[in-house]
Amino acid sequence: MYVCICNALRDKELASASSDARNVAEVFRRCGRRPKCGKCLPDVAKLIEESRDRQNGICKLAAE
Ligand code: FES
Repeated sequence: MYVCICNALRDKELASASSDARNVAEVFRRCGRRPKCGKCLPDVAKLIEESRDRQNGICKLAAE
């Protein structure tokens, strides 16, 4: 599914680039693109948050 229509970026590509990303700009940089209209930015931010949640979950399990 396309998340960023302007750059033809799909959810899987953005999710992969979101791993350990500090912010949305870093995700776009990793994809070799720049945001244009900005409509997708909340969705990309959510992908970063989901990536962090997954990592925190893994860390929690490792700590237990
Ligand atoms: S939809 Fe991503 S910049 Fe326009």
